[in-house]
Amino acid sequence: MKRDVLSFADLTADDLSELFEASRRVKGERISSALGGKILALIFEKPSLRTRFTFEAGMYELGGYAVYLAPQDIGLGKRECVPDVARNLSRWASGIMARTFEHATVTELARYASIPVINGLSDLEHPCQVLADMFTIWEKREDFSNLKLAWVGDGNNVCNSLVHASRILGFSMSIATPRGYEPRSKIEDQRSKIKITNDPMEAVQDADVIYTDVWTSMGQEAEREKRLEKFGEFQINGKLLNNAKRNCLVMHCLPAHRGEEITDDVIDGPHSIVFDQSENRLHAQKALLLKLLSK
Ligand code: CP
Ligand code: NVA
Repeated sequence: MKRDVLSFADLTADDLSELFEASRRVKGERISSALGGKILALIFEKPSLRTRFTFEAGMYELGGYAVYLAPQDIGLGKRECVPDVARNLSRWASGIMARTFEHATVTELARYASIPVINGLSDLEHPCQVLADMFTIWEKREDFSNLKLAWVGDGNNVCNSLVHASRILGFSMSIATPRGYEPRSKIEDQRSKIKITNDPMEAVQDADVIYTDVWTSMGQEAEREKRLEKFGEFQINGKLLNNAKRNCLVMHCLPAHRGEEITDDVIDGPHSIVFDQSENRLHAQKALLLKLLSK
């Protein structure tokens, strides 16, 4: 396994099999001392509930410790340059988890750190989220080969990581976004498995999983009004679900903007597995931390 997880593409199919098994194991045995004496630095340029809590709680449950560094603490790239932050943390910590605006910041941290760096969300990708999501699907069916996942909404960081997951695990995707909001991940070599459309009804047909996320991601707040107009047709609601498989699963990485990209009846309804995803952030990231920090 690579030292750093900056993109979902840094994980191979073998890494994922191993991580899914380990996630299931740690889910069964919550407390251990496997990472006793290890410290994880948590760098945040943006807010967080799930990522912060699950990395802090995960380190605690593994016998280690996490140090939360808020945006105003470090002033990443302003108070101190990114390479020097990486060099300092490498002298004290065993690993770095970073949530950044620019993806280049997380790759720069990795370039200058001598310890593993994990991307806890950048503008380009959200690999830890998609790791937990894939574990959540694996727990329910263990097989990705006949899976069709429909993405409805913005082709954002979560969607980009899912595109990598589709190639590595071999499932197909149908991605419905308004024109101009398609994912940035390259899909040329996945043409047979990934369909891009502007029609949400078409995307969800025959889908086993329907996945959505906020229309305005962190850092895009100035575009909120424009996005509300553009994305109106891309809501996961009862009407859309009527067009999908009867037993389809509905996923959302959270936080949700209820009444925008998803309605209350859907997120709180029988198809929704959003809180399984959220719980599994803890277990999947513990498996990842064990793999990266145990050496
Ligand atoms: N899904 C997710 O990463 O949530 P937070 O932004 O709360 O960490
Ligand atoms: N796409 C969202 C995900 C939040 C977990 C964002 O970047 O804000």
